[in-house]
Amino acid sequence: MNNVQTTGKDWWRAAAAGIPHLITETPGPRSKQMHANTAKYMKGLSSQVKLFPVCFEEGSGIALTDVDGNKYLDFSSGIYVTSLGHCHPKISEAIAYWARKLMNAHDFTTPVKEKLMEKMASILPGKLNAVQLYSDGTTAVEAAIRAARAISGKHEFISGYRDFHGKSMSAVSCAQMYRSETFSYGPTRAPGFYMVPRPDPYRPLWEKADGTIDTDAYIRFYENFIKEGTVGNVAAFVLEPAQGWAGSIFPPDDFFPKLKTLCEKHNILLDDDEVLAGMGRTGEWLTLNHWGVIPDIVTFGKSFGNGFPVTAMVVSEENGEALEKISASSSYGGNPMACAAALASIEVIEEESLLEHVRTVGAFFMKRMEQMKLDHPIIGDVKGKGFLLGIELVKDKKTKEPFPEAGVAVYQKAFRKGLAWIPAGHILRMSPPLIMDEKYAAKGMDIIEDAITETEKEFGYR
Ligand SMILES: Cc1ncc(COP(=O)(O)O)c(C=O)c1O
Repeated sequence: MNNVQTTGKDWWRAAAAGIPHLITETPGPRSKQMHANTAKYMKGLSSQVKLFPVCFEEGSGIALTDVDGNKYLDFSSGIYVTSLGHCHPKISEAIAYWARKLMNAHDFTTPVKEKLMEKMASILPGKLNAVQLYSDGTTAVEAAIRAARAISGKHEFISGYRDFHGKSMSAVSCAQMYRSETFSYGPTRAPGFYMVPRPDPYRPLWEKADGTIDTDAYIRFYENFIKEGTVGNVAAFVLEPAQGWAGSIFPPDDFFPKLKTLCEKHNILLDDDEVLAGMGRTGEWLTLNHWGVIPDIVTFGKSFGNGFPVTAMVVSEENGEALEKISASSSYGGNPMACAAALASIEVIEEESLLEHVRTVGAFFMKRMEQMKLDHPIIGDVKGKGFLLGIELVKDKKTKEPFPEAGVAVYQKAFRKGLAWIPAGHILRMSPPLIMDEKYAAKGMDIIEDAITETEKEFGYR
């Protein structure tokens, strides 16, 4: 129904030739001027934008062009969004087709929605096939919370320290957002929402005798918390499978299997927020697939429509009836353009064998980062799976004291060299488009490594 044929895997190569290619100092004069004009009116811009006020006007595949004509290598995919490359021709054409034919039909079935439902059911594990469509990640997370209440008849929720799930009241209640100024003017967490520590292998709260992280201790704590810290009405654990905003932090391999067992024992749902990590970014449709765990509820966003605002909340078939209690009606959710974008994106992942590709190039990234860790005094840890990657900068490898000043310096230096990316704080976060090959992966890592070396010199480490 998208009526669009595949374009071949190499569609992005012509635009990538020779990147990065800089013809002015960056940000260039036109970028600076346009940003200044915009920032007169737009407030609350992210620190990344403030630290590097570039103005982009074109993207193709893994290449971004700014208004001064400078070309950048993309290591961010927007913000984990344009994962199949900027303006993938098949996806752009699919959106354009429906933009010409039918833009909105509220909740009614359309041919492209029918195809998307069938496609999603075919790729998702287990019986995850009861779907509602929305238009941003936060709204899908909100729907997941309503779904958990409707399915379980319970009302308490547990999420993890440094998780991020969006900026509505329930999503904020499951996240660390209360630290941000916006939410610190009064009560910041809705009643019945709790947070617990989640395992970070580099910074374990509980360790085994051999110094490795003690997953069982976390699970024991959760069990105790359910008993002592709640009213016994826990509907769901709401968790990112790997923490994106927190810095590409992956739990130990035994964490989710053990958590799922705990959930089953206490009749608690596992709500897996795959908005950032899902749809191929880590080399699986769901990051939880890596650990053989099937969640009860899952949310998708970002990569789901490769840049078109479309998101989904999915529950397993046996809980599908409960969704009748929470209406899926929304102004934009599931409009034909959105369905076309999501369907085409899934088809591209299949046609271009991108899950396998991400696993292969992801291993290349990890090997390179492991070597960098050995070579650099300020790299405390490297982490990732597939194309969800992180480099943690520390002042001292022994004390592990975070080094946010170095984070800012590396971010700006690498951007000035032509790498478009999104680090935050002391953890450098990388989320390149999934189509990227090893040649460009190495180019990007070279730029980052140069920027780290220069930063080490600047701070007296070399
Ligand atoms: C894991 C996760 N969930 C939900 C959201 C919210 O998505 P959106 O910004 O589309 O509302 C985000 C956004 O970064 C996210 O990373």
